[in-house]
Amino acid sequence: MDEAQALSAFFAPSPPVLENAAHTEALKARIDPARVPQHVAIIMDGNGRWAEQHGEARIIGHMNGVQGVRESLRGASAIGVKWLTLYAFSTENWNRPSDEVEALMDLLVRTVVQEIDELHENSVRLHAIGDIDSLPDACRETLQQAIARTAGNTRITLTLALSYSARWELVRMARLMARDAIDERIIPEAIDEKAVGERLTTKGMPDPELLIRTSGEQRISNFLLWQIAYAELWFTPVLWPDFREEHLFQAVLDYQGRERRFGLTSKQVTHP
Ligand code: FPP
Repeated sequence: MDEAQALSAFFAPSPPVLENAAHTEALKARIDPARVPQHVAIIMDGNGRWAEQHGEARIIGHMNGVQGVRESLRGASAIGVKWLTLYAFSTENWNRPSDEVEALMDLLVRTVVQEIDELHENSVRLHAIGDIDSLPDACRETLQQAIARTAGNTRITLTLALSYSARWELVRMARLMARDAIDERIIPEAIDEKAVGERLTTKGMPDPELLIRTSGEQRISNFLLWQIAYAELWFTPVLWPDFREEHLFQAVLDYQGRERRFGLTSKQVTHP
């Protein structure tokens, strides 16, 4: 399959997979709506391995990864998650072969253009974190237009982490803080967690309660290091292009079965 064929096949609507639908619904029905995490963050991983397994070029894996984006967003909004943050392109990803980087940027533009009407109709607010100024012009402009168009939507915020890494974000925060100290907007004694949080790119967003990583890797890879201090981690061997609503529901069910102690004892949490 060449790239043009792959693209048209990819953007054609896919028929529902009926045998999985009942299983997915059954998982969804077991989720306690009162304890749904308000923010889920995902490290989407395994596009390259998926492509290799299917005898395709890496970009075909990324293109099929868009289905994982759709499924995770659909599942998250169906159960009332208010914030979904996806690690779409890390600072380190700039070091990949230039044709892969270009193809990924192109895919991002194409996907945003393709999906924006449906996102807007479903009241999805698009947002981005990371070094957005470093993105190619077309990518940045398409993204900014989509962000502006969906700014008033309230159902769920889909945040794409692009040219993002936590260490980049923390260095940026330290520079902002130093500048504010020099300009006498803050004194060192006033620096607290809130002051740090206000200088991160996630300002105004709640911390993720649940972090998912696909493809069997069990690493954080420089993602949201400050914000995931108390997040529950959920790893799955599923490769990102194969990620479906049912996997999100499984992760949320697992999350709901855990005891979140925030440094307290189990007794303190269960009998406050
Ligand atoms: C990790 O797989 C995935 C990425 C670096 C890119 C993620 C991009 C998408 C899912 C496509 C489009 C996204 C949006 C938001 C439109 P990998 O390449 O590291 O896989 P590997 O570890 O198997 O090589």
